[in-house]
Amino acid sequence: MSTSYGLLKGKKGIVFGPLNEESIGWKIAESIYREGGKLAISNIATALKLGNTAALAEKCGNAPLLIADATNDEELKKLYTDLKSQFGKIDFLVHSVGMSVNIRKNIPYEETNYGFYSKALEVSAISLHKVVRYALEADILNPGASVVSLTYIGAQRIFSKYNDMNDAKALLESIARNFGSRLGEQGIRINTVSQSPTRTSAGSGIAGFDGMYEFANMVAPLGNATAEECADYVVTLLSDLTKKVTMQNLFHDGGFSTMGISDKLFEVLEKSMKRE
Ligand SMILES: NC(=O)c1ccc[n+]([C@@H]2O[C@H](COP(=O)([O-])OP(=O)(O)OC[C@H]3O[C@@H](n4cnc5c(N)ncnc54)[C@H](O)[C@@H]3O)[C@@H](O)[C@H]2O)c1
Repeated sequence: MSTSYGLLKGKKGIVFGPLNEESIGWKIAESIYREGGKLAISNIATALKLGNTAALAEKCGNAPLLIADATNDEELKKLYTDLKSQFGKIDFLVHSVGMSVNIRKNIPYEETNYGFYSKALEVSAISLHKVVRYALEADILNPGASVVSLTYIGAQRIFSKYNDMNDAKALLESIARNFGSRLGEQGIRINTVSQSPTRTSAGSGIAGFDGMYEFANMVAPLGNATAEECADYVVTLLSDLTKKVTMQNLFHDGGFSTMGISDKLFEVLEKSMKRE
């Protein structure tokens, strides 16, 4: 979408997780900027080197690029000190971070490597706790601030190929609710957006991703949501239009989560059964 509604005029914040043009975090950064928001961008050092976040930063009004591993307490503390000295207090925080080594290495769930399993929980879920916790400790969040994290329906229903990320997303969503109950007093809200399968480097790293993508696309009445559409939804959650929405897991999936089977999928299954 190229139209700006000015939804984030006067607001400042940070997006954790843009890597390349495909990243959901990248599209969110672009939408925030389009809506008049001022933003900083953060990722781990290797991602900032390997990806092309410098180009994104330039496109988004020379956004500061802040290096931090979102699982590293000291790096996050430093990040917020730097950010506060540049921006003062902020109004939004987007967590678009996730990674599973078990998935990358195609290790079946039953044979999980526990080191990799812990890492998946730490990077993909506990990092949300950390980015919020250290933001609070730095006293950088304005009253009325909005926190959004990205999740997937594997938290509620098991998608076999999503492996240990099913567990990580369940934990992530619980952390959002648990923190939400405590942040209300400060007028701060926190929600998760459960997005359709999306072709990004994290998404396409899943063996069987194409099957998951096509299945969801066939079942969802509106079809899969794109990363750009996700970004537009996220900016509404960062805006003043959604001040009383908190502790929610919000499906942004073309209706997939409410469907059982669709005629489209039924026809495909019938045809393949006839062939057999
Ligand atoms: N792609 C999908 O199908 C899909 C669907 C639903 C939800 N999501 C979620 O959207 C979010 C963004 O993923 P994406 O699909 O845009 O992929 P992506 O690979 O573009 O983004 C993931 C980001 O996490 C960053 N990251 C990894 N380890 C980190 C760490 N220790 N500290 C800080 N950052 C770290 C990576 O560098 C990368 O930039 C993730 O939470 C993902 O689970 C993705």
